[in-house]
Amino acid sequence: MKILIANPIAPKTMKDLQNKHEVICAFGRKKAILQERIEGCEILVFRSGVQMSAELMDRLPDLKLLIRAGSGIDNLDIEYVQRRGLELIRIPEPGAKAVAEMTFALMLALSRNLFEADNSMRRGEWAKHKLGGHLLTGKVLGIIGAGSIGSRVGRLGAAWDMEVIAYDMNTSSTFTAKLADEDIRLTSFDEVITTADFVSLHVPLDSSTYYLISASALSRMKSGAILINIARGGVVDEQALYKALTEENRLRGAALDVHEQEGEGKLSPLAELPNVILTPHIGAMTIDSQQEVGCRIKEIISSYDAEQM
Ligand code: MLT
Repeated sequence: MKILIANPIAPKTMKDLQNKHEVICAFGRKKAILQERIEGCEILVFRSGVQMSAELMDRLPDLKLLIRAGSGIDNLDIEYVQRRGLELIRIPEPGAKAVAEMTFALMLALSRNLFEADNSMRRGEWAKHKLGGHLLTGKVLGIIGAGSIGSRVGRLGAAWDMEVIAYDMNTSSTFTAKLADEDIRLTSFDEVITTADFVSLHVPLDSSTYYLISASALSRMKSGAILINIARGGVVDEQALYKALTEENRLRGAALDVHEQEGEGKLSPLAELPNVILTPHIGAMTIDSQQEVGCRIKEIISSYDAEQM
């Protein structure tokens, strides 16, 4: 079987696949391979960071199966996939755990000034009395997008004695009741935006969520609130966010793991601000989660292989 791998995956999975199949790696210094026509390649494995355009997939005339080693498909031309009748298998579950935990890491780091505290110690300062933080306990956690990641964040928030409210496109009574059982109250976008102390984003990027957190939404957020974007760059208008973070009595802080501009050499203007944490799209990047994704990739390829016999 000939397999094209467009982004790094767990090293053990890579080795195991190389032992059994013809594997073409097309990332890092070998990225240019994606510009070439590759005959005989039936499987393409990819993550975020590479645009899976019609043009690119056209260069793979024998492509049958796409494995999305994660969740988001905003970088995939889904209409083309459907038109060509390609099979798409996503592996969202392992990353969801890591993203939910990372959301808490970011909320805690901002609330307890962890980076500032660490930096001051490294400068030989003892800033104890300048570094009063805030509790998560008792605060309102607002989830935008209560799917598998959002609802997991909500459950963690409830366990932390936060009041958890959520907005989701799905407002069915079954879904509302399921969330209520987990101490997550489904409500309007407006209530989440205007009353939450922490607003955490967990929606995919598409035409309905592009700039969902616009200048207007930001202006309605509670004074002193914190925004976490661990969903997708493009869900937040970052220029408007910059303003909201620098105006008096507006947002207390923001953490962004995903960005309008991602990749080597891209410096966000938000990096100028002390009340911002920026991380390079590492939400799903725990060794554990990536190993789990790797095992699923191997299972999917084995059953595809078996079906061909
Ligand atoms: C995902 O959508 O699963 C995450 O963004 C992880 C990734 O693919 O890099």
